[in-house]
Amino acid sequence: MSSAKLTYNGKEYEYPVIVGTENEAGIDFTQLRAQTGAITFDPGYGNTGSCKSAVTFIDGDAGILRYRGYPIEQLASASRFSEVCYLLIYGKLPNATELNEWRRLLTQNSFIHESMINLFDHYPPTAHPMAILSAMVASLSTFHPDSNNEDQLDTTIVRLLAKAKTLAAFTYKKTRGEPIVYPIAANSYAANFLYMMFSTPAEPYVISPVIENALNMLLVLHADHEQNCSTSTVRMVGSSGANLYASISAGISGLWGPLHGGANQEVIEMLERIVADGCDYKKYITMAKDKNSNFRLMGFGHRVYKNFDPRAKLLKEACDQVLKEMGVKEPLLEVAKHLEEVALRDDFFIERRLYPNVDFYSGIIYRALGIPTNMFTVMFAIGRMPGWIAQWREMRAEFGNKIHRPRQIYIGEKERHYVPVEKRK
Ligand code: ACO
Repeated sequence: MSSAKLTYNGKEYEYPVIVGTENEAGIDFTQLRAQTGAITFDPGYGNTGSCKSAVTFIDGDAGILRYRGYPIEQLASASRFSEVCYLLIYGKLPNATELNEWRRLLTQNSFIHESMINLFDHYPPTAHPMAILSAMVASLSTFHPDSNNEDQLDTTIVRLLAKAKTLAAFTYKKTRGEPIVYPIAANSYAANFLYMMFSTPAEPYVISPVIENALNMLLVLHADHEQNCSTSTVRMVGSSGANLYASISAGISGLWGPLHGGANQEVIEMLERIVADGCDYKKYITMAKDKNSNFRLMGFGHRVYKNFDPRAKLLKEACDQVLKEMGVKEPLLEVAKHLEEVALRDDFFIERRLYPNVDFYSGIIYRALGIPTNMFTVMFAIGRMPGWIAQWREMRAEFGNKIHRPRQIYIGEKERHYVPVEKRK
């Protein structure tokens, strides 16, 4: 095993180097504070490994993404979302019997407690669906109070996965003031979601294979992405011993922000703004480069991918194919392509290695499927559910009851004395 040496205050210390399956190296500083009294300082965690994980591998320089060793390209083109959920959570692909049973459980658990439906009625129609989803997922723990029992874990997992799509579809229905539609047994995961979203009592939604496959692929592409903001949140909250529903509810909130999953909504709003402004791409590129403007090219850049995001590449191809198969003409796709072209030729983006990320093209497909813009991040959350669960489960197995608790460098006032402005009665 190799090691790294550190000299601090005139003394030399040696730390082991951990090497992963794909040769990424990390210096193990777990004894640093005990030995030196100092801590590592890495705000934003750009250089910090918070865990060892066997779930997902990313090589940001080479544009590689693999779930449990399987390349994302292969899974996106041929797998079903339910199968990928099983793979991520249990570490292996299910055989035919396991898959059938898994699918049966996912359908059987799709329904939510009838009393829960009342909760939806008390949100204003303008409520953002991410707020409702986060609250509803946390609320599941009140209807299933056994969720933190170790022997109930598999049931909790399947319940959460199955109910997530129902909660999302009911949120949509309630914000539109339409009656909710229950899932049906014969449908796949993606098809049931579409069925609950778009059926009405007068007309059941007829699911076209093109639409079902497109949604399936989107869910697969979003299923995990190792230690990002929302996933680290799920692990952090879960490390306190919080139940799965509470931990994932926190992850949903982490995903909501515009720098993370909320970017997919922002991309479409940005593209619409550019169209409304006469398609002046250059003006928006200039704004994105201007440090005095708050504007960023949404759907561009990534903390890890410094070459290209393989998901964006797949989605760009899928946009063309899905829109063609559906016979949809989407002016925003042309705008997005032009914007990408202009940005990728611009020195500012080249020097900073800023490429389109998963959110740049996903919204265009969601729009074609009829999903409203404010539901885009909810779609991301449904897709990311198996990844969050897999990471939470792995964290529990590895850390047991050890709480995550970073340190800080305090830069506030030194001790000072309190002088009351008035006398206490
Ligand atoms: N538009 C313009 N400039 C950008 C962009 C962008 N989208 N992204 C990064 N930059 C610039 C920064 O201004 C900075 O420039 P500087 O070095 O001159 O100061 C440099 O590139 C590095 O950017 P950071 O913000 O330091 O990079 P970081 O790794 O912290 O952030 C992030 C990554 C948040 C994704 C960022 O690229 C961004 O804000 N992108 C737009 C939002 C977005 O699309 N988010 C979705 C990410 S994918 C996901 O979460 C699913």
